[in-house]
Amino acid sequence: MIFESHAHYDDKQFDSDREQLLSSMKENGIETIINVGSDFRGSKDTVELAKKYDFIYGAIGIHPSDISDLNQETCQWLEENAALEKVVAIGEIGLDYYWDKEEEVQKAQRYWFEWQMKLAEKANLPVIIHSRDAAEDTLKLMKEIHAEQIPGVIHCFSYSREMAEEYVKMGYYIGIGGVVTFKNAKKLKEVAANVPLERILLETDCPYLAPEPHRGSRNSSLNLPYVAAEIARIREITPEEVIEVTKRNAERLFFGSVK
Ligand code: NI
Repeated sequence: MIFESHAHYDDKQFDSDREQLLSSMKENGIETIINVGSDFRGSKDTVELAKKYDFIYGAIGIHPSDISDLNQETCQWLEENAALEKVVAIGEIGLDYYWDKEEEVQKAQRYWFEWQMKLAEKANLPVIIHSRDAAEDTLKLMKEIHAEQIPGVIHCFSYSREMAEEYVKMGYYIGIGGVVTFKNAKKLKEVAANVPLERILLETDCPYLAPEPHRGSRNSSLNLPYVAAEIARIREITPEEVIEVTKRNAERLFFGSVK
């Protein structure tokens, strides 16, 4: 059975068939799902999904591109809801300099990334980190605040093998999804080949980033066997081993500590 570590079933792309799709997960080998909030509305919807489905757990947090959602009221909501039993992580949080090139905005992203890392530390929860075009600043900030004391995953990993090794040294997991099946994803295939299997989590980031052979269509956790098969091919092991070990990894990260 597969552990899906990063999905966005609150997304409006699932409005037409969410219930039907989620009801089909177990019979298709998807055992557990972490639904990840990326803005305030998404975090609230995540809490509702976790209440409704026994196999869905929630991560709440504000993505770097949505930090305008953060204010006194929403910060208080995050603090209160981090204590819920089925909220098992803070995320997705981090830095994204791909769209935001202005120094002022990037500075604000760093401020809220740090604030949410500290929220996770206080709540005794792991973090789900999004980092795009901000490799150096992400690592620098994490070292400054001693992020090695906060467990977590670098989701949808897009940096080099060397950078992956830095994060693994800090105790972090590396989230790998559909991109690893793309022909031109040389860097990620190298990461998938070299990071210890005990440090890899399977994820979709659905509805985005569907793997081959469904690239470009709406993604769902039902496509995770393609990701597992590609990691298995690269590492010359069986898909079953990839599925079993990554499931144990995710259970250790999300259920292992306080809850
Ligand atoms: Ni995501």
